[in-house]
Amino acid sequence: MTETSPFLPWLDAIQPYVPGKPPKDILGQIPFDSLANLASNENALGPSHRVLEALGDAAATLHRYPDDRAQTLKGVVAARLDLDPSQIAVGNGSNDLIDLLVRITSAPGTEVVMSEHSFPTCRIAALGSGAKLTLVPQKNDTHDLVAMAAAVGPDTRLVYVCNPNNPTGTMNTEAEVDRFLRSLPDHVLPVFDEAYFEYAESAEFPDLVPRVRRGERLCVLRTFSKIFAIPALRIGYGLCPSDVTSRIEKIRLPFNVNGVAQQAAIVSLSDAAQIPRARAFNVAGKGYLRRELDRLGVSYTNSQTNFLMISVPEPKELSIELLKRGVVIRPLVSFGLTPDRYRVTVGTPHENERFVHAMEDILRGTR
Ligand SMILES: Cc1ncc(COP(=O)(O)O)c(C=O)c1O
Repeated sequence: MTETSPFLPWLDAIQPYVPGKPPKDILGQIPFDSLANLASNENALGPSHRVLEALGDAAATLHRYPDDRAQTLKGVVAARLDLDPSQIAVGNGSNDLIDLLVRITSAPGTEVVMSEHSFPTCRIAALGSGAKLTLVPQKNDTHDLVAMAAAVGPDTRLVYVCNPNNPTGTMNTEAEVDRFLRSLPDHVLPVFDEAYFEYAESAEFPDLVPRVRRGERLCVLRTFSKIFAIPALRIGYGLCPSDVTSRIEKIRLPFNVNGVAQQAAIVSLSDAAQIPRARAFNVAGKGYLRRELDRLGVSYTNSQTNFLMISVPEPKELSIELLKRGVVIRPLVSFGLTPDRYRVTVGTPHENERFVHAMEDILRGTR
């Protein structure tokens, strides 16, 4: 702090979060009735029909404050995963929980370690806390957990692993994660962001719940924004040791998760068909996109998620060219990646076809 400014000096280095979808004023200039928004890793299939029915009932409770501790939802999640409710944290999106975990561990003089190309909330929260941020290079577009473990030092308090990773779509295996966890000292809290875990198809994808059940020191973050398709309601949950959830309880804002979201989350979990339905939709859509990208000679990473990271060196402004054709994808420069990298979410069959046809049209002009 200087004598002339009330503001924390370390905030100067922070670049604000860039959402996937361009702002309304830019989208408003695109001459299409509907855009294919493939930029935000949403589940285009939408939520369970039960959620839509429950929203009508929830309207009758809008004049009441929600359950501050989200006890019913915590009970449902705990029963489903054979955990104790004291091991469940609920947040205003899993973003909220990332921020809270950084705040209970990190301050000036401490360090947060994460991968160089990953979901930016942890980076923003770490810099906001005044902690030192160490970004570890990736290997083959994947978190290098050996290098991340080596980067951990005496000041490190939190290490963030996004698995499968946004934006690369790649994953770390059970064996890699096991080795990584064994190597961490006690003063470090490992946080695994599993926003896309329901989409992972690999048999080697780790199951971290038994570790949480055994009381190991690690947190697993999950969300209702992706496979459950209610991002507008803002709700996510964490599976954590109770000495972590008790600290989150101390500093989270009162009523941080609204009642409509809590109800929608409970109802989402009650529909056993939602996950298989959304997975099948994703496998079909991703399969189509992969086949068409192969045909067009466009490379992509091995994605365990509902999106693909593609590489297209020419034209330089692919996302602008696509936008002119009514298709929105995500350039990845703000994730620290090179300008040829983009992220494309699996959309509806119609949206996927629109993307492929637009790509065909654009690439024909460059080859
Ligand atoms: C890896 C990852 N974590 C967390 C989130 C945020 O999820 P939520 O909507 O629960 O805050 C996203 C959203 O895109 C994500 O990609």
